[in-house]
Formats: sequence, C-alpha cells, structure tokens
Amino acid sequence: MLKNAWYVAGWSEWLGDTPQRITLLGEAVALFRSADGAAAAISDICPHRFASLGRGRIVEDTLQCPYHGLRFDRNGRCAHNPHGDGAIPPGAQVRAYPLVERHHALWIWMGAPDAADPSAIPDYSLYDRSDIASSRDYLHVGASYELIIDNLLDLSHAAFLHPFLSTDGMAARSRCKFEQEDRVVHSYMWNDDEPITPLFSMVWDRPEPRGDMRSHIHWTAPSTLFLDVGVTGVGAPVEAGPWLPSLHCLTPETEHSAHYFWMVGRNRGQEDSTLGAAIHAGIKLAFETEDEPMIRQVAANMAGRDFWSMRPAILAGDGAAVRARRMLARLIRDEQQAALSQPSPASTVDLSNIEEHSIP
Ligand code: FES
Ligand SMILES: [Fe+2]
Repeated sequence: MLKNAWYVAGWSEWLGDTPQRITLLGEAVALFRSADGAAAAISDICPHRFASLGRGRIVEDTLQCPYHGLRFDRNGRCAHNPHGDGAIPPGAQVRAYPLVERHHALWIWMGAPDAADPSAIPDYSLYDRSDIASSRDYLHVGASYELIIDNLLDLSHAAFLHPFLSTDGMAARSRCKFEQEDRVVHSYMWNDDEPITPLFSMVWDRPEPRGDMRSHIHWTAPSTLFLDVGVTGVGAPVEAGPWLPSLHCLTPETEHSAHYFWMVGRNRGQEDSTLGAAIHAGIKLAFETEDEPMIRQVAANMAGRDFWSMRPAILAGDGAAVRARRMLARLIRDEQQAALSQPSPASTVDLSNIEEHSIP
C-alpha cells in the first residue's frame, strides 16, 4: 500500500464531540476534534498500556486515554499525566498524522509527515459550490481497494450489474477512451442518443425520453475516483443537463479490506431533500447490494492470489484499470525502495522515572 498519499479518513460532518478509531493501511488511528473544532489524527494505541485512545474522551484540546487518563494533544505529545508528580514520562508520545479538512472530507497522510503537501489533495471544490447539493455515505468492503478501483474504472459493468443505473444493452452502444497523466487515469464513456436510465429519470426535465449520456471517471493515485456522470438533450451542451457527480474515496483498511467513502452531488432539485434522499438511496442500493457482494466474491475466488498471476482476460474497456494497476504498482515499488535505503530508528524504553524499591 502506498504510504505517501492523501487518503480519506472520514467525512468532516461525522466527526463531532466523540473521538473515533479507524484502521487505515493497517494502522490504528484515533480521530478527534479539539475544543477549537480543529480535527486531528494521532495513533490510537496509547504508549502506556496500549489502550485505544479513540475510545477515550476529549478534554479541552487533548484526547484522554480511557484506561489511566494520560492526555495527548493533536501533535501526539502527552500534555497531562494525572499520576504521581504529574511529570510527563519519557516515551509518552504517539504518532501524529497530518490531517486536512477539505471538500467535506478529512484527508489524512499516512506516510512521512515532511512529505505531506496539502496542495496534492485533488481539487473537488465543485462540492463546495452553492449550486451543487450533495450527500455522503460509507461502505466497508471485504476486499482489496484495488478490486474496487477495477470496478469503478470500467463502468461497462453497470449494464449487467446495475439495472437502476443503466438501460438494456447499453454496453454495446458505448464509446470508450482512456488517457493517462502523471498520477491520473481518465476513463471516458459516452452513450449518445440513449434512453434515460431509471436513476436519471428522477432528474430528467425534458419531454423526449432520450439523451446524450456521459460516464467519465477520473482516478487519482492511489485510490480517489471522481465520476462525472450526466445526461443532456441529444446534441445539447453538456452543462445544460442534469449532473450527478460522485466522489469515491477508497482507503485501504488492510491488504484485504477497504473503507469506501462516497459522496454524490446533483445540479437539480438542490433544495428538494426528498429527491436528494431518493438519489442517495438508489446509489447506495447499487453499491451495497450489487457492487460490494460482487467484489467480495471476486476476492474470495482469487483466494489471495496475485491478480496478474491469474492471467486475466482483457476486454476493450479494461485499458484504464490496467494502467491504474501498473501505475500504482510502480509508485508502491518506488516508495518501498526509497524506504529500504533509509536507516531504521533505534528503539529504547526509558525506565528512568521509575523509583527502585528493594524487596525485603
Ligand atoms: S493505557 Fe493509556 S494511560 Fe494507561
Ligand atoms: Fe458498480
């Protein structure tokens, strides 16, 4: 898994007064808001007896361990020791992770803190626009995040797996193209003069029952995908039609499981909460009852085997997913080689603050 990257650790609005714990890239992380409202992320494992700090409580600007009450600030430093003379013991420090709140999300950096550059967070400011209403959700997936990327970068599966999001025989009528940039793969799909899908019929506001549909998905390494899906009248400009842009942020939990944070926006009925709930529910149903079981089954069938070792057949629409897999593998390999050339830090336990007692 790629460490030096921004991942989504949660939705901003879901982190309130109660701290949370979440496993990201195999590391247990505690998320909390200090009294000033700023979000922070530190290691979940208390350095005293290894309790979960994310199960503790917020006291002013610190997170108090639920076991013996050490308090840690947003930099991971122990700021209060309720025992003995209150001196802060050596080693009472946990790792702090860079965290940025942007576009409704909590973006966390799991790699070397010095390398964390907030300008590298992809620009999803469209979700901050007043003309776009949006809603957010979460799905736990019992499979590698790479299988979810495969799923999203080839949307031809919608014609077979998602009746609500497609029309009969749609895959055969699609035009596809993909492009690759530095850390981005674009996968474009057009269906011209296509019947309106059940999902888009909720926001379709023209008399004719057909339109030009686009389903373009843009993957940014390692695992953030933006789906630009919209329909316009046949031959009409893209901007004129209903648009349901969705963001798909995949954060590996472990090698074999992933957090799937998703957000869907709309440029129609922005004040209509009933419409928003119906669109959200339709998409949620597709992800939870169609995509996730399929991806989990694929993972079970692969039984831990390497994707390429199984010599997958390649279809016309697989170019984008193949490019993304190769790019991700190269980024991970480069990062691991760079890490191997770094000396590992020595570790010691300092017992100098424990008084010696003689035992009679
Ligand atoms: S385990 Fe956290 S203070 Fe003891
Ligand atoms: Fe899907």
